[in-house]
Amino acid sequence: MSPYEGLEADREHSEIAAPRGTLSARALFDALADAAFVFTPAGIIQACNFAAERIFGHSANELVGRSMCLLFADGDAESFLYQLQNDLHAHQTHYTGTPRELRGRRKTGETFALEITVTTLRDPDGERLLGIARDITERHAAQEQIRAQNARLQRANQELEQFTYVASHDLQEPLRMVSSFTELFARRYQGIIDDTGREFIGYALDGAKRMKLLINDLLEYSRLSHDTGVHSKIDANRVCDDALKTLALAVRDSGAEVEVGKLPAITGHRAQLRVLFHQLIGNAIKYQAADRPPRIEVNALRDGNAWHFRVKDNGMGIPEEFLGRIFHIFHRLHRERRFPGTGVGLAMCKRIVELHGGTIWAESVRGEGSLFHFTLADRPPHEPFFSA
Ligand SMILES: Nc1ncnc2c1ncn2[C@@H]1O[C@H](COP(=O)(O)OP(=O)(O)OP(=O)(O)O)[C@@H](O)[C@H]1O
Ligand SMILES: [Mg+2]
Repeated sequence: MSPYEGLEADREHSEIAAPRGTLSARALFDALADAAFVFTPAGIIQACNFAAERIFGHSANELVGRSMCLLFADGDAESFLYQLQNDLHAHQTHYTGTPRELRGRRKTGETFALEITVTTLRDPDGERLLGIARDITERHAAQEQIRAQNARLQRANQELEQFTYVASHDLQEPLRMVSSFTELFARRYQGIIDDTGREFIGYALDGAKRMKLLINDLLEYSRLSHDTGVHSKIDANRVCDDALKTLALAVRDSGAEVEVGKLPAITGHRAQLRVLFHQLIGNAIKYQAADRPPRIEVNALRDGNAWHFRVKDNGMGIPEEFLGRIFHIFHRLHRERRFPGTGVGLAMCKRIVELHGGTIWAESVRGEGSLFHFTLADRPPHEPFFSA
């Protein structure tokens, strides 16, 4: 029996019009890089192409007349036939299967990852099927490598987070000792130490106070990743209002004008999102320009499946060369004395936005103001909105 018997249909079916002459179906069949089989609904192979011989290691003569089961590893052969019968039964007329991943078997007995798609042929002589099989060993290996790499990265991140948490937590105790004994020393030996000694003690106490702030903020930062709190449906306007309430004094003292547009409903971690708005609006007030009160605008635009939020100010702005670094932890552009802070605020914002599957970035014109952008995935479509 010719290996191509099943393909030798009449001219109309075996030739395809091409710009210069015609192409025979057989030539096309053999030119395929994937293994192709023509087989009966019972799974008996009637024809196969060159790639089938190359991939499975059997010659066409060894394959034609045999069952498709020959191509699969034990267990997967039965599952292939069973699925095929089910699919054919469900799609009585024409059937184009979705690609299925199975374990293939070569003539040598070696098994490998295989993807096969089955389609019924529009065949005047009776129902026949076309199976296109692809060796996906490399794709599997690449996927496996990505999975392993992701798992390693995740482990490394967890260890780092754990380390940050433990380090910042354990540093608190010795730091308390340093500051309380320095204070005790200053009080007890007040009359004995001279002005220079007092000045030095003052520096030591200032340093300890600052370190306490840094450690506290670092702890807050590392807690973000540990906090797996529930994500609920949240009205972003309410979260923003909550943040503004805690900033009420700063708003009043600076004479800031804050304009909040209509914000959407989002799914997220309420406390974390409040921190996000608090930090961004807080910065917009803190880094105001010297000659004008802060004017802050908060709004959101639709962007595909996400919401794009913007917090705009008319403050002192950020030099372009620093824009990439402001989201790094402890990175500050100002001296502590002029603007209190530790440089954790924007790092927290970045972490929070990322934990919500979004991104954050900033634009700025020095002396004119800054515009912070962040994206958040919106609530799933068709779900009724309610405020958490
Ligand atoms: N709206 C803004 N306008 C101008 N500069 C800003 C603005 N927001 C942030 N910055 C700059 O980016 C730096 C990092 O900001 P971030 O909020 O992380 O830290 P911080 O405000 O200094 O301290 P913290 O927020 O921890 O109290 C700030 O020190 C400031 O120089
Ligand atoms: Mg800040």
